[in-house]
Amino acid sequence: LDGTGRPAGSVGFDAAGAGPPPRDPAPLGLLAELTYRCPLHCTYCSNPVELSAYRDELTTADWRRVLDEAGDLGVLQLHLSGGEPMLRPDLVDLVAHARALGLYTNLVTSGIPLSEARLAALAGAGLDHLQLSIQDAEPAAADEVAGLRAHDRKLAVARQARAHGLPLTVNVVLHRGNVGRLLAIAELAAGLGADRLELAHTQFYGWGLRNRAALMPTPEQVAIAQRDAETARAWYGDALELVYVAADYHADRPKPCMSGWGARQLVVAPNGDALPCLAAAQLPDLGIENVRSRRLGDIWYSSASFNRFRGTGWMPDPCRSCALREVDFGGCRCQAYQITGDPAATDPACGLSPHHEWLTRITAAAGTAAAAPVPRRMA
Ligand code: SF4
Ligand code: FES
Repeated sequence: LDGTGRPAGSVGFDAAGAGPPPRDPAPLGLLAELTYRCPLHCTYCSNPVELSAYRDELTTADWRRVLDEAGDLGVLQLHLSGGEPMLRPDLVDLVAHARALGLYTNLVTSGIPLSEARLAALAGAGLDHLQLSIQDAEPAAADEVAGLRAHDRKLAVARQARAHGLPLTVNVVLHRGNVGRLLAIAELAAGLGADRLELAHTQFYGWGLRNRAALMPTPEQVAIAQRDAETARAWYGDALELVYVAADYHADRPKPCMSGWGARQLVVAPNGDALPCLAAAQLPDLGIENVRSRRLGDIWYSSASFNRFRGTGWMPDPCRSCALREVDFGGCRCQAYQITGDPAATDPACGLSPHHEWLTRITAAAGTAAAAPVPRRMA
């Protein structure tokens, strides 16, 4: 909490009443989506479905300037992501540049392609942390989701990362096809020497939304997964930090998406679009700005897009009068838009939303989809 009793970074543009003006928020983290190209075809990918619109990627000089501006803005953590960031030939250079600016660097990768020499170069450039995605504990099922033979290569990357002394998070997206193997996944991560295991139920954006019917776990599966996550926590204790990201379609309170809009984090897409969250490009009339034509700090503080849902002043009822409005920030704007068509609506994941029943109907129908999921590809 900051000095006003508000969660730090959630200072509002809803200022009602007297008192000093709220302190301007500064972002803690930048998610740099270096490219949407990727050799994998995961059906749950949260990248936009229209990937071909992002072929005109920022240059190395552009990204170095963006990192400079992020440092000036107060950003402390840089998450290098995609698509597959390893496909950028300048990745080692960008890591070294970020470290020289004093940024904490986290590489979010599928591990394909990642040679041991490149891993050594990244470690030598000062990479602070590696987050490696794994699709499943069962190799054939993992390769089927990835759309190529990747599983064994990923395990090799994990072992090499530990050999180079890199802190390692294993990230696994949970869906109907793998959620029953949660304990085997935890065993695999522990055996690889991971420091941290992130078990995240599919977030239904982009390709994940397109494939929602095929990926949605049943309520019974979610209940078992929650129990299994607690079991794994008890098994490994402090030896493996376990982060469990809930299935919010199955919940009755929404996630505090991005820790609030324009409050803690920002995203720069491969084409330079500066976004308040990774799925915001779909929102109508947002007025998205691009780092090629405006400084990151100006966009963060002054753009229409970052101010649109900042604070609590934009909220409708029931959020407006809810005691939790500065805890979950009304949930996710993108999910509200996807389900209701209105990005300013209360997230239907909230049990107090007038649209909550729509999610209940979707989860009740889980397991009945006949169609196979569509593999992600960059047309
Ligand atoms: Fe959160 Fe709004 Fe639901 Fe209250 S009504 S719990 S603020 S989403
Ligand atoms: Fe856009 Fe949640 S993903 S606000």
